[in-house]
Amino acid sequence: MPVITCIDDLKRLYQRRAPRMFYDYTESGSWTEQTFRENTSDFADIRLRQRIAVDMSGRSTASTMIGEDVTMPVALAPVGLTGMQCADGEIKAARAAEAFGVPFTLSTMSINSIEDVAEATTKPFWFQLYTMKDEDFLRRLIERAKAAHCSALVITLDLQILGQRHKDIRNGLSAPPKLTPATIANLMTKWRWGIGMLGAKRRHFGNIVGHVEGVSDAANLGAWTAEQFDPSLDWAKVAKLKEMWGGKVILKGILDAEDARMALKVGADAIVVSNHGGRQLDGALSAIRALPAILDAVGDKVEVHLDSGIRSGQDVLKALALGARGTYIGRAFVYGLGAMGQAGVETALEVIRKELDTSMALCGRRNVTDLDRDVLLIPEDFEGRWQD
Ligand SMILES: Cc1cc2nc3c(=O)[nH]c(=O)nc-3n(C[C@H](O)[C@H](O)[C@H](O)COP(=O)(O)O)c2cc1C
Repeated sequence: MPVITCIDDLKRLYQRRAPRMFYDYTESGSWTEQTFRENTSDFADIRLRQRIAVDMSGRSTASTMIGEDVTMPVALAPVGLTGMQCADGEIKAARAAEAFGVPFTLSTMSINSIEDVAEATTKPFWFQLYTMKDEDFLRRLIERAKAAHCSALVITLDLQILGQRHKDIRNGLSAPPKLTPATIANLMTKWRWGIGMLGAKRRHFGNIVGHVEGVSDAANLGAWTAEQFDPSLDWAKVAKLKEMWGGKVILKGILDAEDARMALKVGADAIVVSNHGGRQLDGALSAIRALPAILDAVGDKVEVHLDSGIRSGQDVLKALALGARGTYIGRAFVYGLGAMGQAGVETALEVIRKELDTSMALCGRRNVTDLDRDVLLIPEDFEGRWQD
């Protein structure tokens, strides 16, 4: 058994075990990757206040997100192609989240379908929706999520068009991988992944193949998805989707106070401050830097969550102390999944829980729900002094 002490240990193991194409897909930001880098480096700019001689007994990381009990406020973010990182990846990640007591969010672009995950789990999960031009398909997708008893619809608003990630183009990213001399050479070194995939339930986009007329194989699918994301999405359509769903709605991809106010207007139950892990607008602010202004604008009226850049429990602590009610991890759980399957995701969650709990104690606090800015040392110009 490899010794895992931190998320970086899982990342190294993941890099060894997963095909290069899928590792690169995860470990990419768009264009120059400035926002991708700053998502993590800006977390490091905030420091924690060490406090001593404070009673640290009886601590708890438990909280709630959109009214659901969580053992810590760290959900698994929606990640496309998770079932290519290891066989039945979405099922394994969902089971890990359930065992740990945190929410799992299934991506529209998953390999295992909504029904596969519902069948393999006992608690409701969250479903992430990309808005597609094909309204019939969209309606059916929402109905399928309802039938699977998903307890929240996470509508992603920062991907009407796709930010370019150079490595995906160079690698010819596809699910399943196209067999070129380069991919074959790489796959030959990934025997563990290959054996798993032979027994996988699915190797195509499970929410789409078989549910859209004319889409039966990966080649058609590529063409279909490239032209299906809806560039005309606007707030009126968001309101319509919310009505179609009828349940709790989380709006993901908010990075600006004005947009946060619009999200409030359409009746979001929560918003996710996020730049898609630095995969969309390169040059945008890091999520943690954007958080304070959004909290000032809507923090007392709607639950504010954050993702993008979280690699440790200390990062979670900083986001919560700034005022976020909940957080999500994307890459951090994918590293665990690609390294060691379900056990790897549980390990990633446990690493983060332990770091959060211990760091909170060393800051002199006992409950994540009591965290505030008092435990932080924030650089004076952290939010940036931008011209009007
Ligand atoms: C490989 C990968 C695939 C992703 N796919 C989706 C997706 O299908 N839907 C979505 O809303 N967000 C997607 N995201 C964004 C994540 O939900 C999340 O916002 C991001 O990973 C957070 O940043 P972090 O990876 O630094 O934690 C993806 C992110 C990664 C890394």
